[in-house]
Amino acid sequence: MKTEFAPSLLAADFSQLKKELQLIEKADYLHLDVMDGVYVPNISFGSGIIKAIREQTELKFDTHLMITKPERYIKDFAESGSDILTVHLEATDHIHRVIQMIKNEGLKAGVSLNPATSLNTLEYILPELDQVLIMSVNPGFGGQSYIPQMTAKISKLKKIIEENNYQCKIEVDGGIKAHNLEKIVKAGADIIVAGSAIFGAEDPAQALAEMRGIASN
Ligand code: DX5
Ligand code: ZN
Repeated sequence: MKTEFAPSLLAADFSQLKKELQLIEKADYLHLDVMDGVYVPNISFGSGIIKAIREQTELKFDTHLMITKPERYIKDFAESGSDILTVHLEATDHIHRVIQMIKNEGLKAGVSLNPATSLNTLEYILPELDQVLIMSVNPGFGGQSYIPQMTAKISKLKKIIEENNYQCKIEVDGGIKAHNLEKIVKAGADIIVAGSAIFGAEDPAQALAEMRGIASN
C-alpha cells in the first residue's frame, strides 16, 4: 500500500493559512493538532479554526485531539468538517464509548498512544479502529526528536494487524524527517505526519515530494 502523508498545520504560518494550504495540496490529509493546555502543556487551536479553513482545501481533515475527556467535544469536531477524529487512549476513562461516538457521527475513528503506553491497551478495541496513531514524541509540541524505541512498537503493531486481518492503518506522528523516514515506513507506517519537516522547509511542496520519493523506494 502506498504511504500517505499528513502535513501538520501546527508548523505552518498561522497568519497565512490559505497560502500554506496551497503549498501542500498534493498531500493526502491535513493533520490538525488540537491542544487544550491541560492534557498537554500547550494550547493550539480548536474547532472554530478548523471550520474556517474547511472551505479552503480539498484535503481530508485528520484531526488529532490532544484534549482531556474528548467525549465532551466529539460533536463539535465532527461539525467542524473533520474526516478522521483521533483521541488519546490516556485522555478518557471510556475509550470504547468515545470510539462509538465518533463512528455514530459518520467519521473514521483513531486512537493515539503516547510513547510509554503499551500496545496491549488496544487488544479489545483494535477490531473497531480505522487507525492507530503511534506518538513518536511526547505530545504537545512540534519540532521534537523521534524516540527510537517507537520503530519496534510500529513493527509489533503491524504484525498484530496483519495476523488478525484488521482494517486498521498505522499513523506515526512526531520527529519524522527525510533521514529517518525509510525505517519508519519499513516498520509498517501507513500514514506519516510531518510538521517541521514540511512547513519548516524553504519549499514545503518540494519537501513533501522528496519525502514521497523516499517512502516509495
Ligand atoms: C505533537 C503533534 C505533532 C507535531 C509534529 O504533539 O501531535 O503532530 O505537530 O511535528 P513535527 O513533525 O515537527 O515533530
Ligand atoms: Zn499530531
